[in-house]
Amino acid sequence: MISAMSADRVIGSGEGMPWDVPEEYQHFLDTTRDATLILGRRSYEIFGPTLTSARCFVITRQPDQLTPSRTTADDIAVASLQEAIERARAFDRHIYVAGGGQIYRQAISAADGMLLSVIPGDWTGETYFPPIVAEDWRVLLNEDRGSYQLTQYERRR
Ligand SMILES: NC(=O)c1ccc[n+]([C@@H]2O[C@H](COP(=O)([O-])OP(=O)(O)OC[C@H]3O[C@@H](n4cnc5c(N)ncnc54)[C@H](OP(=O)(O)O)[C@@H]3O)[C@@H](O)[C@H]2O)c1
Repeated sequence: MISAMSADRVIGSGEGMPWDVPEEYQHFLDTTRDATLILGRRSYEIFGPTLTSARCFVITRQPDQLTPSRTTADDIAVASLQEAIERARAFDRHIYVAGGGQIYRQAISAADGMLLSVIPGDWTGETYFPPIVAEDWRVLLNEDRGSYQLTQYERRR
């Protein structure tokens, strides 16, 4: 999973994120370039036009209604997280679950790793990343990048 959040796990406010930290969003675009993304329909509508991934699997209860946000990529509507994971595995690329709140909640128990950016400051919003159980995760990297703190986690087995 890949996400940016406040220290108290706010990830979204309305049609976007409450902060404007372009270098963090660039980190997201660089990391997910040519990868496979799994996204909820709302997040795909918000971020779709800017994405650099090779392919998105977009989770929606109305797969036949999805309008692709990009003409340059082969984005696909799917009916569940399970279907997204199964179909994404058929492509030989790194798979990232990239939000939003509904999808992170459903995916966190199946995730092998997390790459999380924490944006310092007080931010308000209505969408949250799910609670993180610290003992489930090993920290592989923890780096102060000035405007955000980047931490990479691997699931403890
Ligand atoms: N900070 C970050 O890293 C980050 C990343 C991504 C998003 N965000 C923020 O998160 C917010 C959006 O998150 P969200 O929770 O509102 O929406 P979301 O998770 O992006 O998408 C929700 C949609 O996914 C579909 N869905 C969810 N569960 C499903 C299931 N079990 N089966 C089939 N379809 C399912 C539904 O689509 P249909 O309605 O089409 O059926 C639902 O409306 C925005 O504020 C965005 O800016 C932040």
